[in-house]
Amino acid sequence: MMDFFNDHKKLYSASLLFFLVLTLIICILPALDNQRIYQPLSTSKAMTETETRGKMLFIKEGCVACHTQQVRNVDMDQVFGSRPSIASDYARNKRLNLFQNTATLMGTERTGPDLTNIGQRQSSLDWHYTHLYNPRAVVPQSIMPAYPWLFIEKDALDPNDVEAKIPTEFLKSKTKKIVISQDAKDLVAYLLFLKQPDLPKSIAPKEFLYKQKERKSETGSKSNLPDGEALFITHCATCHQASGEGVLGAFPPLKGDQVVLGNNIDLYVTIIMNGYNGLAPAYAEMPAVGTTANLKAEEVAAIINHERKSWGNNASEVTVEEVQNIMDKIEKK
Ligand code: HEC
Ligand code: HEC
Repeated sequence: MMDFFNDHKKLYSASLLFFLVLTLIICILPALDNQRIYQPLSTSKAMTETETRGKMLFIKEGCVACHTQQVRNVDMDQVFGSRPSIASDYARNKRLNLFQNTATLMGTERTGPDLTNIGQRQSSLDWHYTHLYNPRAVVPQSIMPAYPWLFIEKDALDPNDVEAKIPTEFLKSKTKKIVISQDAKDLVAYLLFLKQPDLPKSIAPKEFLYKQKERKSETGSKSNLPDGEALFITHCATCHQASGEGVLGAFPPLKGDQVVLGNNIDLYVTIIMNGYNGLAPAYAEMPAVGTTANLKAEEVAAIINHERKSWGNNASEVTVEEVQNIMDKIEKK
């Protein structure tokens, strides 16, 4: 026995062996086990090449410093996804190479909103381009930095160029055209790829904990409709702005707007459910906001009534039945 403590070779080999066995039990086997258990969700998609390039730009530009990609299982995170994130959500992420670790981009700091589901929440390419060029063009109070180097300034457009929709007050030179670079296209392709996949039936969803009490609307509306103002802020204000004034050259104002004040409720509901491009090229294209968000007739009616009575607008209210009839017609098509 004394021999063991005096023989440095034996002592060293024994502790090395001990170290290796412990590493195997504590680190390597559980990691392999995790990899086996947490397979990618069958409802999730692999990234295309463009989207992968976009992810690399997301890393390169340091977006992860301010944006997380993890919906925690607490109620305040429910705005960022329909369910808490689970380990399988990250199972498609692989090591970049021998020297670089797996880029899950879960993040540690939320200066800006979580982006787990941004492709679902904001599906408009034009919105993303304008926002990247100068966040304050679409979010006046934004503290996000601008990324103008993702765009090319030109005197005239070349045949395949796509121009970003930038309000003139945000242009450094009023005569220049702002062309969307391949980098910007890749980055936005990645942002639109970020959609939280539904859980397959075999996996029970986790619950959001620490539920906050339901906030009651204080608008004092006589109707039993949901809160139209809150719905407008959630689904429409990113583009049309809380002031209803829109963004010049990108998103039209709804204050004093003909469709909002007019009697063609058919068109109004269709625009909300299916999107619109009737005002091109003066404005961007509106995506199918209502369908994507799965808005119900009473929600659409509440939004319409809010718009028809706000910002100096004054048109008669619509009923849920009226909206429901139009939505039934749209769905049959
Ligand atoms: C210094 C912190 C910061 C950095 C860096 C940053 N952002 Fe942001 N981001 C914000 C803030 C704050 C907001 C909320 C205000 C706004 O919408 O502009 C935001 C909002 C967003 C939104 C809209 C989210 C939503 O829910 O509407 C997107 C998309 C976005 N950022 C993408 C990016 C990308 C892509 C990058 C890297 C190129 C980036 N951000 C870098 C702070 C940051
Ligand atoms: C992603 C940005 C975006 C969001 C979100 C959005 N819109 Fe739009 N909206 C647009 C754009 C862009 C147009 C102009 C489309 C065109 O060029 O024809 C538009 C047009 C409209 C019009 C027609 C205006 C006219 O004079 O023809 C109405 C009405 C409207 N939106 C209502 C809404 C409502 C209600 C919501 C919320 C449920 C909403 N929009 C959400 C971008 C958006």
